[in-house]
Amino acid sequence: MSESYKNLLDGNKQWVKKTLEEKPDFFQELSKDQKPEYLWIGCSDSRVPATEITNMLPGSIFVQRNIANMVVHTDSNLLSVVYYAVKILKVKHIIVCGHYGCGGVKAAMGNEDFGYLNNWLLHIKDVYRMHEKELDGIEDEHLRFDRFVELNVVEQVHDLSKVSFIQEEWKNGEYPLLHGWVYSLKDGIIKDLDITTNNISELGKVYQYNRK
Ligand code: CO
Repeated sequence: MSESYKNLLDGNKQWVKKTLEEKPDFFQELSKDQKPEYLWIGCSDSRVPATEITNMLPGSIFVQRNIANMVVHTDSNLLSVVYYAVKILKVKHIIVCGHYGCGGVKAAMGNEDFGYLNNWLLHIKDVYRMHEKELDGIEDEHLRFDRFVELNVVEQVHDLSKVSFIQEEWKNGEYPLLHGWVYSLKDGIIKDLDITTNNISELGKVYQYNRK
């Protein structure tokens, strides 16, 4: 039987020791409450951990991850996390962070049958269909893949802005701001897609609740 799981428990002991050396009251303080300013919607990919790649500490980012960082409106897990983040934690920023080389996006680009997973991938395939003209126009397959990753993030940010309780927050103030980012596995750099939004003006009319 592989004992490699013990590496995690040993690692935990080392981490606690190191953390206490640097900040003796770290756990005492953090155990009282959490007040993260950010909600991170990212990919489950093991190479894209929210706090590490942003050099942040535990307590700073509320996190939801799934295959290909999707915002699916029938996903009660995701919606509950977003609701809690927006209504109770009052996060100021929601970041959808995709990553180049995403296996989920790659799978959705192709025609391979992935069994049960196909149902999840369909949501990503829908994004391809929405941007078929642009994507089919990119001859280089790697460049097309990179662009598909970006467009998928753009659509997930749009999908977040269609959520009624987010629109409700915008009626009362400027938060939460929604952002779209893409992380590069090759150099560790995050690219801001500059699609930050906190209003419904760019949304199709049918998605705008209580429009005045
Ligand atoms: Co991925």
